[in-house]
Amino acid sequence: MASHSHIPQLGLGTFGRTGDAGIAAIETALDIGYRHLDTAQSYDTERTVGEAFRRSGLARDAVFITTKVADTNLAAADFMPSVRRSLDTIGVDQVDLLLIHWPVPEDVVAFESYMQALKQAQDDGHARLIGVSNFTIEHLERAAKLLGQGALATNQVEIHPWLQVPILRDYARSAGLQLTAYQPLVKGQVAEDEVLKAIAATLGTTPAAVALAFLMAEGHIVIPASSSRGNLENNFRATAVSLSGEQMDAIRGRNRGYRHINPAKSPRWDD
Ligand SMILES: NC(=O)c1ccc[n+]([C@@H]2O[C@H](COP(=O)([O-])OP(=O)(O)OC[C@H]3O[C@@H](n4cnc5c(N)ncnc54)[C@H](OP(=O)(O)O)[C@@H]3O)[C@@H](O)[C@H]2O)c1
Repeated sequence: MASHSHIPQLGLGTFGRTGDAGIAAIETALDIGYRHLDTAQSYDTERTVGEAFRRSGLARDAVFITTKVADTNLAAADFMPSVRRSLDTIGVDQVDLLLIHWPVPEDVVAFESYMQALKQAQDDGHARLIGVSNFTIEHLERAAKLLGQGALATNQVEIHPWLQVPILRDYARSAGLQLTAYQPLVKGQVAEDEVLKAIAATLGTTPAAVALAFLMAEGHIVIPASSSRGNLENNFRATAVSLSGEQMDAIRGRNRGYRHINPAKSPRWDD
């Protein structure tokens, strides 16, 4: 059983890390020192995460594992069987964090039903911590009313230097809820940002590491993905990059509400 009482601030995104190449990438990350793996029922990476974890030889309580219940599994009859399947696929008795991947538009599945099921999964010991993803302030307030303030460990949302979601960020800070920044490198596009490039040149690092250092200094958890050892090492070293107040302000100025992930099922974002 994992003993992390908190979520390691730098984790590994695993979207796309499928098959043998995916296992190899995740194994490389564990070898470098990553101790937080982010998977989901819909990524087809629960198996590769479990396999890489086993091959690493690390103790179960050394690695923080997150998975997410897909929106197709939120109905009452599907929820818990899907969680048990996830545990089987990963090969663990319990995940460290279980998230609702997306809220259901128009409450086609009742919000109360899947949020209570999430809590039940925690009470049954399937997940040590519970949280949500792609939730708006309205969803978060409904969740707090239903489960109590502090029941959720995080809201995982798209955040990067071009999408800093100040309204949601300020709300989360006031509610004591930590945000997890998904797609923190905008699929590698942050490498082209002129301000990040200039700061990186001054510090002798890369724009990606500067982006991750910025997000962590803002208090967010980050889960960048990569399959290359060089980029995995670079991103992992972001924890050692320290930015001045002036550099933080310069990066805050890069926010332009650039949202990369916005499918039809998206809620009305707060930004
Ligand atoms: N909750 C949700 O709805 C949701 C949605 C999207 C994503 N996520 C999670 O967030 C994780 C991260 O998002 P993501 O994988 O979509 O995108 P990302 O982490 O922003 O970007 C990954 C891409 O950036 C490249 N990259 C990595 N490090 C780099 C570096 N130092 N310099 C230049 N390029 C670099 C990688 O290429 P190489 O392999 O060549 O390094 C990879 O193609 C996902 O894996 C998933 O776990 C969650």
